[in-house]
Amino acid sequence: MKTLITYCTTHGCTEKTANELKQFLGGEVVLVNLKKEAVPELESFDRIIIGGSIHAGQIQKKVKDFCNQNLKKLQDKELGLFICCMEEGEKAEIQLQDAFPEILLRNAKATAYLGGEFNFNKMNFFQKLIVKKVAKVDNSVSKIDYDAIRHFSNQMNKIFNPFLFLV
Ligand SMILES: Cc1cc2nc3c(=O)[nH]c(=O)nc-3n(C[C@H](O)[C@H](O)[C@H](O)COP(=O)(O)O)c2cc1C
Repeated sequence: MKTLITYCTTHGCTEKTANELKQFLGGEVVLVNLKKEAVPELESFDRIIIGGSIHAGQIQKKVKDFCNQNLKKLQDKELGLFICCMEEGEKAEIQLQDAFPEILLRNAKATAYLGGEFNFNKMNFFQKLIVKKVAKVDNSVSKIDYDAIRHFSNQMNKIFNPFLFLV
């Protein structure tokens, strides 16, 4: 089983999350940062996981472009979709639904929001200003959801056995 995790990260949280996910997935796992690396041929992978983070309600454009440019190929794969964000519950779910094309969300084996972090050391002046004003946070904070990462990888690792219907 060969898995590709393609992701975009602005301040490093999605990268950290993708690396965490990698530990729980079986077989060979290749990580590709869409902002820095070329994407290998999708045909050589059995599973594809796509992740990105939410800023002002939106996932990175490179994630959207990757999905739209490979829509057909992605539908034929075992697919996982995740976001990193600081919202929780219904708001996080809405952001997840907005982040990926509907057809991919419908075909995905697992979808999830996996928490996030505010990293003040990596934010520029305006980002700090926005986070202070909107989220009312003025220090770095990590809310990566390790249970959700574990759950997401368990769902991806589940094997569909058609013979189970016969017993
Ligand atoms: C300027 C800014 C805007 C953000 N906007 C949102 C938002 O609209 N919704 C949300 O849930 N989280 C928002 N976040 C939180 C990010 O999604 C969170 O920091 C995430 O972990 C970033 O992941 P990354 O480091 O991989 O980019 C925002 C963070 C920053 C710095």
